[in-house]
Amino acid sequence: MPNIDSSAVIRKAVIPAAGMGTRFLPATKAMPKEMLPVVDEPAIQYVVEEAAAAGLTEIVMVTGRNKRALEDHFDRAVELEGMLEEKGRFDLLAAVRESTEMANMHYVRQAHPRGLGDAVLTAAAFVGDEPFAVLLGDDLIDPRDPILPDMIAAHKKFGGTVLALMEVPVSEISLYGAAAVAPIAPTAGFENVVRITGLVEKPPVESAPSNFAVIGRYLLTPEIFEVLEKTKPGRGGEIQLTDAIQELTQRPDRGGPVHGVIFTGRRYDTGDKLGYLQAVVKLAVEREDLGPSFSAWLRKFVQELAE
Ligand code: G1P
Repeated sequence: MPNIDSSAVIRKAVIPAAGMGTRFLPATKAMPKEMLPVVDEPAIQYVVEEAAAAGLTEIVMVTGRNKRALEDHFDRAVELEGMLEEKGRFDLLAAVRESTEMANMHYVRQAHPRGLGDAVLTAAAFVGDEPFAVLLGDDLIDPRDPILPDMIAAHKKFGGTVLALMEVPVSEISLYGAAAVAPIAPTAGFENVVRITGLVEKPPVESAPSNFAVIGRYLLTPEIFEVLEKTKPGRGGEIQLTDAIQELTQRPDRGGPVHGVIFTGRRYDTGDKLGYLQAVVKLAVEREDLGPSFSAWLRKFVQELAE
């Protein structure tokens, strides 16, 4: 049986942010893709807010070349803050300070981006010997539908590794890590939890084990690092986190078992241009300040498109 220590508080999160952002060139030529604004907040800030809201207040970002803006964004901006204070713009001052005060930010640099698995391995020294979360910046989970609290509860109940899963149309499964799943014994409060018996990174539709896609939220234990050290490059010649977790599905006592929490809330893929635009529109519509006037304009615009 896995060693379940339900008293362990999960407080560390790893956010890989070393990717080149080629899908958004030329916008990302001199700016990290994580800084692209979703309404008026960089995409990455939503992810940090999500982590902090779940009690993950020690956050390490795995960065690389061209990522200095990330560190600046989560740091104090003394001159700017002084200017806003002088002008009495306390609303903006609070907005500027928010990104600094949410969590304790740390940075490690991945010298040669060799895949998501390698990025997570870069954070090993920071993580040390405790369970931790990984949040991928391209997946934006709507703040009204948090998934991390359910994942933390599942980790406390079952031990081991917990991933967020989402059902996607079969035709889209090749864009994701795909999970083979099995039901767990009925457990009150854990109706949305399944056992993951296998994982494949971006399989062809014909051989996908299911249409359950891994979305970018993982709760891992330090055992993942010894596996990642030995994980050979997989799909795309990269060291895949999915491949390492697949290994854990076969060893329930060390890093396993692996469970999935099925997410049914609102999620946007901001790593993709279409998903990014959808996120901006949907979140703008929901905003108290912008929503009413933006929605009115949008209704009219859509009507004109249909004519
Ligand atoms: C990564 C993971 C993949 C996962 C996806 C979720 O892929 O490798 O398993 O399903 O994130 O967004 P990427 O989209 O970075 O290629």
